[in-house]
Amino acid sequence: MVQAIEWKSDHVKIIDQTELPIRTVYSEITTIEQIFEAIQKLRVRGAPLIGISAAYGLYLGMRDVQAASPDDFFVELDKKIDYLSKSRPTAVNLFWALQRIKDQLQAVTDQSTNDLKERLLRLAIELHEDDFQRCKQMGEHGLEVIPDGARILTHCNTGALATGGIGTALGVIYTAHQAGKNITVYADETRPLLQGARLTMWELMQAGIPSKLLCDNMAASLMQQKMVDLVILGSDRIAANGAVANKIGTYGVAILAKHHNVPFYVAAPLSTVDLDAASGDDIPIENRASHEVSKVFQQCQIAPDDADCWNPAFDVTPPDLVTGIITEKGILYPPYTENIRNAFDK
Ligand code: MRU
Repeated sequence: MVQAIEWKSDHVKIIDQTELPIRTVYSEITTIEQIFEAIQKLRVRGAPLIGISAAYGLYLGMRDVQAASPDDFFVELDKKIDYLSKSRPTAVNLFWALQRIKDQLQAVTDQSTNDLKERLLRLAIELHEDDFQRCKQMGEHGLEVIPDGARILTHCNTGALATGGIGTALGVIYTAHQAGKNITVYADETRPLLQGARLTMWELMQAGIPSKLLCDNMAASLMQQKMVDLVILGSDRIAANGAVANKIGTYGVAILAKHHNVPFYVAAPLSTVDLDAASGDDIPIENRASHEVSKVFQQCQIAPDDADCWNPAFDVTPPDLVTGIITEKGILYPPYTENIRNAFDK
């Protein structure tokens, strides 16, 4: 399975996802600024992968810092965390990863600044490995909602290209396929940046999973014709009440699923849950450049010159449209406020 990001003794190696599926281009990243740019430009993307990238970026930013004392080290660390926090606003895994590393570093007492730097790298690698395990566990838990013969609709990309492991929603799909379930996946193209067409289809075809690509506006008809047994997709931030922020278009799919009585599952690790966000209203939604809508990949113009476009990258699906949330601790069902909290206590 493809690895979206790898630590290579003194640099980070990524697949530049803006080049897929036409070319498989690997980039070597050696600075925090390059990580920032890679996150912002979606060279690395997907909530868990953004968090992992930021963790490595923090190390790259700190490794050459000359701090006279641990206190100075932490002043610099806060500056780098602030900087990376501005790369993208919605995926809470970014903020979660940076905070987790800071907390773990602060727990280390009586260490030289060099020790702190070494520890920071180890923590970034551990965070990466931790996501690998969470993906595996989500895959195993998710098996129980995938019947043999299931026809599954998904949106955006939630696989190995979006995480440090097999993926969230796509991880469940891989696990079901490997368990011998005879599944078919329908992948929404996911306008405007086409993560479904470019990335999900690329992953599914490499894995040999029967799959069909559709334009986003075809999902309603697909469901009306009873060609979908369940929806499964990922999330960038889940509020404490179970509201799910995910790639723009997810909310529409959720409404369609409700109308057609199709189960709607979200697969996400608990690192995607933001207990500080009481509801979807507290989730910041990223607005991206107009040209992403009017010019496909800045190449093919599909709207009049200078057309002004609305381009929110995410939307919020209210909890009453979500059948269940597949996490590494098991599948959570309503009432979400209570069951999400319990999952953290497990
Ligand atoms: O803008 P992107 O490509 O980073 O958006 C990604 C998504 O919306 C995914 O569905 C989400 O991060 C879950 S990935 C495991």
